Amino acid sequence: MFAAQLARQVRAPRPLRSVRRISTTPARRSDALFVHRDTPYNNPKIPFAFNADNQKRAQEIISHYPPQYKKAAVIPLLDLAQRQNKGWTSISVMNYVANLLEMPPMRVYEVATFYTMFNREPIGENFVQVCTTTPCMLRGAYDILGKVCSELGGIKPGDTTKDGKFTVIEVECQGACSNAPMIVVGDDFYEDLTLETTKKVLDAFKKGEKPKPGPQSGRHTSENSAGLTALTSKPYGPGEFCTPEFS
Ligand code: FES
Repeated sequence: MFAAQLARQVRAPRPLRSVRRISTTPARRSDALFVHRDTPYNNPKIPFAFNADNQKRAQEIISHYPPQYKKAAVIPLLDLAQRQNKGWTSISVMNYVANLLEMPPMRVYEVATFYTMFNREPIGENFVQVCTTTPCMLRGAYDILGKVCSELGGIKPGDTTKDGKFTVIEVECQGACSNAPMIVVGDDFYEDLTLETTKKVLDAFKKGEKPKPGPQSGRHTSENSAGLTALTSKPYGPGEFCTPEFS
């Protein structure tokens, strides 16, 4: 009986492998092209240099590494440069960092194209990243993504609104699964989202305000949303009354 079942399984045709879709996000879209193509807004002739503050900051970052390993500062410096360059890493940004760290430019391109945090296309003023990995997906991430896109005038993931205020992309897990579903706007996480709170967060950004980051459900962090269900009794000593600083 078991042998017959096994034989059937062995003979069963293997399912076709699903075709990997090319993401529509700016970072992935440029990954699909692999190579940089000069455009009027992104070519090596466009100058880039750190401003005075960032020059100081860059020297401070470089000083954390032994002189012979200063290229180890490539990621923090690319991040610093991306922030100065309105949130995206142009070819001039990469060349500047390569020059500063005395690295072959190709080594910097490799880093910037590998890490999706480096946007190789211009982005809007507010960069909205919607997590759609499994825990967020199970908690309605695709509804949140749809809501974000429709609230921003029906744009699609990878698009920027016409007024340049918002760019939306779909991203993988951001490490805030216990507060799923969530989005990232700029550097901040907005968690425990519903369709209503997503709209509220976006409305605030539209008005130029900055809503309070974190859970939008009333939770403080990621504590049990059903309240305290364990360790509810008064703790016994030693501990609570052990020393004044623990009392
Ligand atoms: S799955 Fe969305 S934060 Fe982890």
